[in-house]
Amino acid sequence: MTSVTVRVPAKVNLQLAVGPRRDDGYHDLVNVFQAVSLFDEVTATTGPGAGGPLTSGDVTASVVVEGEAADQVPLDATNLAVRAAFAVGARAGRPVDVALRIRKAIPVAGGMAGGSADAAAALVACDELWGLALPRDELMDIAADLGSDVPFALLGGTAVGTGRGERLTSLAGGGEYHWVFALADGGLSTAKVYAECDRLREATGEPAAWPEASARLLAALEAADAKELGESLTNDLQPAAVLLHRPLSRTLAAGREYGALGALVSGSGPTCAFLAGSADHARELALALDVAGVCRATVTARGPVPGATVIGATA
Ligand code: C5P
Repeated sequence: MTSVTVRVPAKVNLQLAVGPRRDDGYHDLVNVFQAVSLFDEVTATTGPGAGGPLTSGDVTASVVVEGEAADQVPLDATNLAVRAAFAVGARAGRPVDVALRIRKAIPVAGGMAGGSADAAAALVACDELWGLALPRDELMDIAADLGSDVPFALLGGTAVGTGRGERLTSLAGGGEYHWVFALADGGLSTAKVYAECDRLREATGEPAAWPEASARLLAALEAADAKELGESLTNDLQPAAVLLHRPLSRTLAAGREYGALGALVSGSGPTCAFLAGSADHARELALALDVAGVCRATVTARGPVPGATVIGATA
């Protein structure tokens, strides 16, 4: 192959139960993810690209980023897609190079795992580009090393994540769900939101419970009951995200007022997610939020959708 393009979805958390802080600084979670139809695209091409060359061992990579808030994505070796290319290239057993082009639609630092999605897409694209055919388990292990949400971006669908979110079990339930996402001005650092969650718990003296999957939420998914699902959405990071980004309380209240079946901060925020009853309802709700001026922009999406998928390749 000389060029491979991979499409990768954003995620929304249907439940994010955050346990106590572990000795390694992470938190044990129960994280029910759903992949939604808001996609980034990553193209991996052999040879030097427009970006500055970055090297790690025998791997040379470059990266350029276009689209939604592209200027906020790092172009150095901290870029998660570049780190993914380095990790896959280290298994090639020969010198390899790649030029990565990322087309962003997923908000940057928005709580929708955009960086993790790009890493997952780069993993799949580089594996294909270099003809490595790494086993799925190995790609999943590399993904987990790159970040807690990267394995889910490979898997897609709806799944429960445990550990720091990286140990996944797919949920089979049928149904299609319609979402509205209210994008905020600016982003929130995931690490800062977890730290704020810890601080709030210390301040209130409320110990963090061991995280458990919500039986009501799992039953709603099993029954493909959107109304019931809307009522069982929960996110333990929400109070911390709202404290760090106060306008979110108004955004969430507006969505509920305009008839969302459920409203919550997506992951560590600041994107807010609203469950709608149908595609039409989602469009109406998005328009109402736009007109109310309670967010920077809205997008509608459906879920679940598959994880990182090759959509084009040139021999
Ligand atoms: O794994 P990832 O790099 O995506 O995590 C970003 C940050 O989010 C971590 O550095 C940590 O502060 C926080 N985090 C956590 N517990 C998790 C997942 C992430 O505290 N289970």
